[in-house]
Amino acid sequence: MSQLKIVLDGESLITPDAMAGGTAAGDYEHFDEQLAIGRGEIALMLELARQRSERAEDPRSIIDYVAGALHDIRSRFHPNVWKALVPVVQRHPVSAFFLQDPFTRWSFEKPRGYSGDAHLLDFIYGHPDAADEIAAATPTGKALYDYTKDASSSVAVRERRDLLTRYVDQVADARGAETEILTIASGHLREADRSVALREQRLKRWIALDQDPLSVGSVARNFQGTCVEAVNGSVRSILNGKQKLGQFDFIYAAGLYDYLAENVAVKLTQKCLQMLKPGGLFLFANFAEGIRVEGYMETFMNWELLWRNEADMWRIVNASIDRNTVEPQVWFGENRNIVYGTLQLRT
Ligand SMILES: C[S@@+](CC[C@H](N)C(=O)[O-])C[C@H]1O[C@@H](n2cnc3c(N)ncnc32)[C@H](O)[C@@H]1O
Repeated sequence: MSQLKIVLDGESLITPDAMAGGTAAGDYEHFDEQLAIGRGEIALMLELARQRSERAEDPRSIIDYVAGALHDIRSRFHPNVWKALVPVVQRHPVSAFFLQDPFTRWSFEKPRGYSGDAHLLDFIYGHPDAADEIAAATPTGKALYDYTKDASSSVAVRERRDLLTRYVDQVADARGAETEILTIASGHLREADRSVALREQRLKRWIALDQDPLSVGSVARNFQGTCVEAVNGSVRSILNGKQKLGQFDFIYAAGLYDYLAENVAVKLTQKCLQMLKPGGLFLFANFAEGIRVEGYMETFMNWELLWRNEADMWRIVNASIDRNTVEPQVWFGENRNIVYGTLQLRT
C-alpha cells in the first residue's frame, strides 16, 4: 500500500489535502536531488506533450504517451518525491489540454467536494446522466474521453459493476425470497439496473447506504416502488452502531475501501461479518497497486486512492476473521486493476 501516513476515520471524505501530510521529504535522504531530476523529466515529457497537442496530433495518442510516462516516473521515484511531483504536473500549462476531457475535469474539480463521487463513476459507466457533459466537450475533450472511458481502470470498474449484479442475482437464487442485501457506499447503485432478481421482485430488501445525500436522493428516485431502500449513512455511523440495519445475506462495498485506512477497513469488515446471517457473504473491492493509469489519475485527475496489493488485502482479511467460521478468498478481476476480498460465513 502507499506509504502515506494517514488515518482516515470512515466519515471524513477524501480530498488530496487529506491524503497529504507530513513534510514532503519525510525521511528520504536523497529527496532534493531526486526531486530535481524528477522535475526535469516531467518538464521534458510534458513539453513534448504540449508540442504534440499544438501540432493537433490525435489526443488519444498524446494521453496514452503521457499516462505511460507518468506511470514510469511514478514507479521509479520514491513515494515522497512522487508526491512532490504531483503538483508540478498539475500546474503545467498542458493540464488545460487534458482538462478538456469531461471525466478528467469532473475528477479534478470535485464539484461534490470529495474524490470518487457517484457522478464521476457515471462517466465510466457511460450512463445517460453524464451525457450532457460529454456532448458539451470540445472535439479534443471527446477524443480524450474516448481514451479515459476505456482506460484499464474504467474497464475494471465496469466489470466490477457487472460482477456485483451477478453476485446479487446468485445470492437471490441460492437464498430465496427472504434475501436481504446491504450495499455500503452505494453511489447511484448502477449494478441494480440490470439485476434480474430485483426486476423479478425476488429480493426482500436491498439497502443502499451512502454518505452523499445527492446520491441517496438519486437512488430513492430511481428505485421508487422497488425493495431498494436508500439510506443516508456513513462508515462511521455503521461502526458506532447508530445505524441499526439488521442482518443480511450479502453485504458489499465497492469504491470505498480505496479510501479507508487499514484500521478502519478492518473494523468495517468485522462489523459487516457481524451483520451477516448464517452462510452469508461479504465482498469488498479495492483498486490494485501498480496499475498503468495511477499516475494520470493522481495528477491530471487529482484522484488519489489507497492502492492495495494482495498482501494488503490479506492483512485486512486476516485481522478481521476467525478462520473457523469464515472462508476467505482474495482474487483479481480480469485485467488485475481491481482486487477483491470475499468472506463467506461457514454454515
Ligand atoms: C467511487 S463511488 C462508488 C459508488 C458505487 N459503489 C459504485 O461502485 O459505482 C464511492 C462512493 O462512496 C461514498 N462514500 C465515501 N466515503 C464514504 C463513507 N465514509 N461512508 C459512506 N459512503 C462513503 C461516496 O459518497 C460515493 O458515493
